[in-house]
Amino acid sequence: MLKAIQSFTEYQEAYQKSIDTPELFWDEVAATFHWKKKWTNTLLWNFSEPKIEWFGGGTLNITENCLDRHQTTRKDQTAILWEPNDPKDAVRRVSYGELFTMVQQFANVLLSLGVKKGDRVCIYMPMVPEAAVAMLACARVGAIHSVVFAGFSSQSLADRITDAECKVLLTADSMTRGEKKIDLKGIADAAMAASPTIESCVVYQHKGTDILMQEGRDYYWHHLMEKANASHTAVEMESEDPLFILYTSGSTGKPKGVLHTIAGYMVYAAYTFKNVFQYQDGDVFCCTADIGWVTGHSYIVYGPLLNGATTLMFEGIPSWPDAGRFWSVIEKHKVNIFYTAPTAIRSLEVFGTEPFVGKDLSSLKVLGSVGEPINEEAWHWYHENAGKGRCPIVDTWWQTETGGIMISPLANITPLKPAFATLPLPGVQLAIMDEKGTEIHGNGVEGNLCIKFPWPGMSRTIYGDHERFHQTYFSAYANHYFTGDGCKRDEDGYIRITGRVDDVINVSGHRIGTGEVEDAINEHGYVVESAVVGYPHDIKGQGIWAFVICDREHHSYEELCNEAKAHVTKVIGPFARPDRIQVVKALPKTRSGKIMRRILRKIAEGDTSNLGDTSTLIDPTVVDAIKAGADMIR
Ligand code: WTA
Repeated sequence: MLKAIQSFTEYQEAYQKSIDTPELFWDEVAATFHWKKKWTNTLLWNFSEPKIEWFGGGTLNITENCLDRHQTTRKDQTAILWEPNDPKDAVRRVSYGELFTMVQQFANVLLSLGVKKGDRVCIYMPMVPEAAVAMLACARVGAIHSVVFAGFSSQSLADRITDAECKVLLTADSMTRGEKKIDLKGIADAAMAASPTIESCVVYQHKGTDILMQEGRDYYWHHLMEKANASHTAVEMESEDPLFILYTSGSTGKPKGVLHTIAGYMVYAAYTFKNVFQYQDGDVFCCTADIGWVTGHSYIVYGPLLNGATTLMFEGIPSWPDAGRFWSVIEKHKVNIFYTAPTAIRSLEVFGTEPFVGKDLSSLKVLGSVGEPINEEAWHWYHENAGKGRCPIVDTWWQTETGGIMISPLANITPLKPAFATLPLPGVQLAIMDEKGTEIHGNGVEGNLCIKFPWPGMSRTIYGDHERFHQTYFSAYANHYFTGDGCKRDEDGYIRITGRVDDVINVSGHRIGTGEVEDAINEHGYVVESAVVGYPHDIKGQGIWAFVICDREHHSYEELCNEAKAHVTKVIGPFARPDRIQVVKALPKTRSGKIMRRILRKIAEGDTSNLGDTSTLIDPTVVDAIKAGADMIR
């Protein structure tokens, strides 16, 4: 099994080694896993195509590392501890032995539905242990899972199914998040009607709601499981065979299917989990993300299970039944490591310290933060109230594309600085670039964040569009992976992420492309054109501000706002609903027809003292009109 770094000196040595001899460094990490056949070629790469191959010649199955190899030592240990949405409902504890059986059975179910190595399976499920079973069963038979967050609309689900040409859809009857009921099967039916590739749909009966089942296409999970054999030998996979696709938003175009491959992702998810959180045998680890996002993939499912950890899966939300829910969950399950998002912390800050009264949080050893920059105030509040001043906060910077954490303190090892993600993990070679594309060396600098050497967890391509992969990540700076984020490196060499420098916004930790929201708004009959930007929002981090040109003046502003917001909810999902809609007569455009978003961003931010050069606009007077309109709705 993996051993964690024990001290700051060890971290520095490991880091140096990972740079001087990266292959040797990762060989040693990879050797702690079970391989069917050992790799022969640790790394092959170039960032110009790009082409990246780790552990070539090796064969394995990731589920043997998550499950089979723990059977002699951890059969009765809880693998997945499930806390339901409603605290009055029963908790579930799925042991490594039970999880192993469930995954083998479901692997056989997938086979019975005709799923073969390389086929794509879409997972649109609530936060229940069966969702993890579904992912692992796919990996076991060599199918590629594509988990879609169960907050996406039927249209978004259909787009993702179609793009990956998924053959099977796994879903549930319905689910509840807080008090909100979500009709998953209804949404899935609408999506399937629009996506011809789905041959079968398996429905996990979660709430026991009445649903429509289409003969010959839809099957209940429990019916198929009853008949399934409980033994399945994991399929032998190549290191670079795909493990999963996960859709994420970029600055332009439709969401892209980020593809991760088996061996590199496995090694990286496991290594980062163990080292960043300093997980020790017997600890209860709780990550509050949804499995529909990469954080759920790497730190609810794969990272913890690869390390034989107990991973707590929480179905609920932080604010229901009350604002003390997180703290109740920690107390109830004696959580040792708690990993959440700054937006959740900020939303709880509003309720003050009352929700902590009478709750015993003494089990906590480590706190984590992910998804967006954590502001200093939230950092201190989290540190003092949840951690009682004694638990380190690991502020972990990473992305869907990186597969695992890239910049973060190691808990109780790296000296902390509030709001700093601190230092790169071993294997991560950062480069801060200036506008001309030259690396800025030294400390006390600021620029765009790139990575100049491959790490095992990096994405290998965008599913079905390698050219877009190249364009998006490897074309801005030659021979560098460009993250899309800006950062500062302070006098101590510590990294602080300043946020996206492209047209991606981060709303409550959800990554949204402004272009996607514009496309959705533009579909509405009243709308001629729109431009969407992010603006600072106390709780969400960023809010969505849409500037909209309409062609039907006789509709009231209110009506238009409601319509446009409802339409975005329908097309993308509730989390992408604009916060503010401003009807404008014209948008600030250059002579070449490009919208000057910089100006709109500044107006939305309320920072109009210096709008920069507006002389290239066709009509500079539109800016004043927009400024005046913005003040009215702010
Ligand atoms: C942002 C989530 C500051 C960043 C794991 C990145 C962060 C995007 C942090 C990726 C952090 C994530 N500090 N910003 N600790 N973690 N981000 O793909 O802008 O959903 O590019 O992956 O979130 O979002 P994604």
